[in-house]
Amino acid sequence: MQYGYFDDNAREYVITRPDTPYPWINYLGSEDFFGIFSNTSGGYCFYRDARMLRLTRYRYNNVPTDAGGRYFYLRDSYTGDVWTPSWMPMKSQLDSYECRHGMGYSRISSSRNGLAFSQVSFVPLHDKCEIHKVTITNESNIDKYIDVFSFVEFCLWNANDDMTNFQRNFSIGEVEIECPPHGSSAIYHKTEYRERRNHYAVWGVNVPVNGFDTDRQSFLGLYNGFDSPAAVFNGQAGDSVASGWAPIGSHYIKAKLSAGESKTYVFVLGYCENPEDQKWEAQNKINKKPARDLLEKYNTPEAADKALADLNAYWTNLLGKFTVEADDKKMARMAGVWNQYQCMVTFNMSRSASYFESGIGRGMGFRDSNQDLLGFVHLVPERARARILDIAATQFPDGSAYHQYQPLTKRGNNEIGSGFNDDPLWLICGVAAYIKETGDYGILNENVPFDNNESLADTLFTHLKRSFYFPVTNTGPHGLPLIGRADWNDCLNLNCFSKTPGESFQTTANYESGVAESVLIAAIFLFVGPDFAEICRRTGRNDDAERAERAIAGMTESINKHGWDGSWFLRAFDAYSNKIGSNECEDGKIFIESNGFAVMAGIGIHDGRAVKALDSVKEHLDTKYGIVLLQPAYKNYHIELGEVSSYPPGYKENAGIFCHNNPWVTIAETRLGRGYRAFETYTKICPAYREDDSDLRRTEPYVYAQMVAGKDAIRHGEAKNSWLTGTAAWTFVSISQYILGVRPTFDGLLIDPCIPSDMKGFTVTRHFRGADYHITVDNSAGKEKGIKSITVDGNDYSGNIIPAFGDGKVHKIIVTMG
Ligand code: BGC
Ligand code: NOJ
Repeated sequence: MQYGYFDDNAREYVITRPDTPYPWINYLGSEDFFGIFSNTSGGYCFYRDARMLRLTRYRYNNVPTDAGGRYFYLRDSYTGDVWTPSWMPMKSQLDSYECRHGMGYSRISSSRNGLAFSQVSFVPLHDKCEIHKVTITNESNIDKYIDVFSFVEFCLWNANDDMTNFQRNFSIGEVEIECPPHGSSAIYHKTEYRERRNHYAVWGVNVPVNGFDTDRQSFLGLYNGFDSPAAVFNGQAGDSVASGWAPIGSHYIKAKLSAGESKTYVFVLGYCENPEDQKWEAQNKINKKPARDLLEKYNTPEAADKALADLNAYWTNLLGKFTVEADDKKMARMAGVWNQYQCMVTFNMSRSASYFESGIGRGMGFRDSNQDLLGFVHLVPERARARILDIAATQFPDGSAYHQYQPLTKRGNNEIGSGFNDDPLWLICGVAAYIKETGDYGILNENVPFDNNESLADTLFTHLKRSFYFPVTNTGPHGLPLIGRADWNDCLNLNCFSKTPGESFQTTANYESGVAESVLIAAIFLFVGPDFAEICRRTGRNDDAERAERAIAGMTESINKHGWDGSWFLRAFDAYSNKIGSNECEDGKIFIESNGFAVMAGIGIHDGRAVKALDSVKEHLDTKYGIVLLQPAYKNYHIELGEVSSYPPGYKENAGIFCHNNPWVTIAETRLGRGYRAFETYTKICPAYREDDSDLRRTEPYVYAQMVAGKDAIRHGEAKNSWLTGTAAWTFVSISQYILGVRPTFDGLLIDPCIPSDMKGFTVTRHFRGADYHITVDNSAGKEKGIKSITVDGNDYSGNIIPAFGDGKVHKIIVTMG
């Protein structure tokens, strides 16, 4: 069943009951302050780094789920009725409830016994804070006396320490409180400010309060949960001052509302920093100037509304860069709005903070960030440029790369190190996408450190060259690239050979065979390699281009000779040079990745192998909910394969529907001109098409999930790991560039749709290198691929690459398929 609906005009998903099958979240923030916000006001916020600078506490893996948030408690002081208008944490009975998740904001509205509540939560552009604008309205015809309590629980900044180091933490919590009789009220969380931190958090409201609490135990009661706070039930704040233990922020406001009256409060949860020499305003009194300025800025409902309007304008502008109109509303709303929105979230979060990623684990992935870029480079090209330079600086001089880096320091992560041999190639993929989008070859001349070391800096072009030659010079017995610790599939750990529980599959190499090879890396090389050669040529490096083309020819030969299994492409060779992903194998006979990517790279298109490979994928791997990663699932742990065989059959890399690589098959299908099949693979994993199946799917119907349980799993069709997945970028590439077929190339905007024959047409608007392209595709001919004619601004046009006009104007392109 459905738990809500899309409001396309508002660009909102409207959740109509609070007990969704999993918390359905949204992301607040677009620059450096971020919040995760669930449909019942759960979640937390942080400044720049979800591990190091976390403002509020959240309990992953808690019972009940989704514990921690910015909560508001209401109490009718006449009847003593207490409730949480966001449903959680009290699971209050509500007369009405609605949560609208929009672009960078969420709005929860509810009512109970004639008291309406609304909360709009967002992070304003350019400020380091969350705003929660709360309005309560007396819809009854008698006066109401309502006690309003706010509640946040502070995290002691380092989220990892916060949940492990209690012997210290229970003694370090400190706050300051400023609740004067007039003006706004503020609670300051200043733990560790006395020593090495120069930042604190502020939780303010734009009105005087009748009380406050800053000590958790005083507010809740030691043996109470968030669902039964003692202060609220007593109708009286304790005016507690936290000293150690668990600092919280709670304002207590007594509101008298006559019949029909509304009151609005603007709560601000902010991060403030002071220069080292201006930390204090008096002995032990933090310098509150930045906090006061922030609260002052948002001290009226109008100021909050204006900030929200600015945020809306920001998103309208961003999403105006690529829009879709089509009869198929699900596709149009996903491709035009939600998929791009998710791409921006992956840009901001990488794989750090979601309801499946704790924010204390991985930083920015080298391969992940390069792929994520494919989904947002058209939206924020300048930020993509900066991101590329950050990523490239974590590359080693030999072309390999730190697998991850920390967003705060931008330094490569030593704990995980290097050795994922696909990593280098994704840099070429990202840079090529950037140049095709912008035409900015200048980026190649940027001087970029290797290993974050300025003295090793060289041009970005040199980085690409080292990337390109890494798989060429690190090959195994079949002339195919060595896999290292793993390739795109982090769980194909062919040199790991781990017997020790808990040992990391990704960083352990008990047997560095120097033998295990990856067919997938070869295919990725053949997909991105030609772009490198083209970049060489277009920048006058003809010798480099020719040398690269020879390397490409060599790799093509290796894959042709050793990478084909008869009906599909092999996946890899293990440390003993045994085949993986072969019909000869007992389990893991066929894998999705090498087949999708090889056909994307054009291998076997002219000799029938591509068709065979994709037909085999369809026959062996396809399910109702998408294409599983491999079949048959590994039933036992294989020491020579690693983590892939550690998962129960049907989950994650062991035959789960790993959505990330489904679009590779979509794209591959378009290379064969099979528009129906391409669209079918697109829709199967697209969440909007499963909106009415939410009880099984469980995760949000407006965002992609990393994984849907495969056919071997009991809960086949259930999704996990929503939001932070490369699926976002790749599905956007597949729908926008290959199905709808509007694809940036070095020469201009290529138009080459590949759609089901019964799709009558569609309209796409695309901002591209300083001009707007208004593209209408007419498929009354009922084709899957092929263009009969194109007109540009009313004139016949030959060819299907529309030049970069760069004139700031709107150009009308009419495409007739046939
Ligand atoms: C997961 C992979 C992930 C890896 C990251 C593994 O447990 O299965 O999907 O890429 O962890 O380190
Ligand atoms: C998730 C990781 O973030 C990504 O880098 C990897 O490619 C996939 N899992 C597959 O293992």
